[in-house]
Amino acid sequence: MRIIIEKDYEAMSKQAANIVAGQLSLKPDSVFGLATGSTPQLTYRILAGRYQTDGLDFSRATSFNLDEYVGLDEAAPDSYHYYMAANFFNLINMERSHIHIPNGMAPDLAAECCGYDQAIHQAGAIDLQILGIGNNGHIGFNEPNPSFEATTHVVHLGQETIQANSRFFSNVTKVPRYAISMGIKTIMNARRIILLANGSSKATIVAKALCGAINPEIPASILQLHPDLIVILDQEAAEQLAVQDALMF
Ligand code: PGA
Repeated sequence: MRIIIEKDYEAMSKQAANIVAGQLSLKPDSVFGLATGSTPQLTYRILAGRYQTDGLDFSRATSFNLDEYVGLDEAAPDSYHYYMAANFFNLINMERSHIHIPNGMAPDLAAECCGYDQAIHQAGAIDLQILGIGNNGHIGFNEPNPSFEATTHVVHLGQETIQANSRFFSNVTKVPRYAISMGIKTIMNARRIILLANGSSKATIVAKALCGAINPEIPASILQLHPDLIVILDQEAAEQLAVQDALMF
């Protein structure tokens, strides 16, 4: 694990964007695993800016998003389809046919999950996975659980996640109770993972996930076992880390 501590959210986002851009330069047909939420928003904006000003070329890249709510149409402003279009896909030149997000409106959710894993497999696995972390330690929508869920699956969202995500909705009752999420094995199969966290509200969970015991009750703790994990934090999110040898920029 490599931990990079940046001075603030902007520097953290630039560092993440540099890694994505580097991956794309080395392998233009890279497969990216993408996250939603507040954390990667600026990373996407920076990358979109580099497409617009420097011609960073996404035309051969493929993407798979981590998750989507069940029961939200892709045109719904709170859906992750909508978020990704608004924050990234509408601003870059990735082919629409290369973009994959779980369909939370699928009539057969089990078949949707199974098909999603097959599509990732057929794409040759994820080269670079971007992750945020929930306050409860979730990655994607892999909620704290007695065991790790391996593959893409339907999740019953925990109360803490519903509460945390209600900030994106008009009120908490509008937050869907179910979602589709890539599983832990699918995430861990990525060749490289970047975990992003910023803000002091993430400091406790970041320290537990990176320095505590590996435990499915803190799903992100499994990332300690990944052979190529880059953690990029701002100073606030890093404030409870006991790691002395983290890289400071
Ligand atoms: P956030 O969400 O980026 O909005 O904090 C992270 C997550 O829930 O995975």
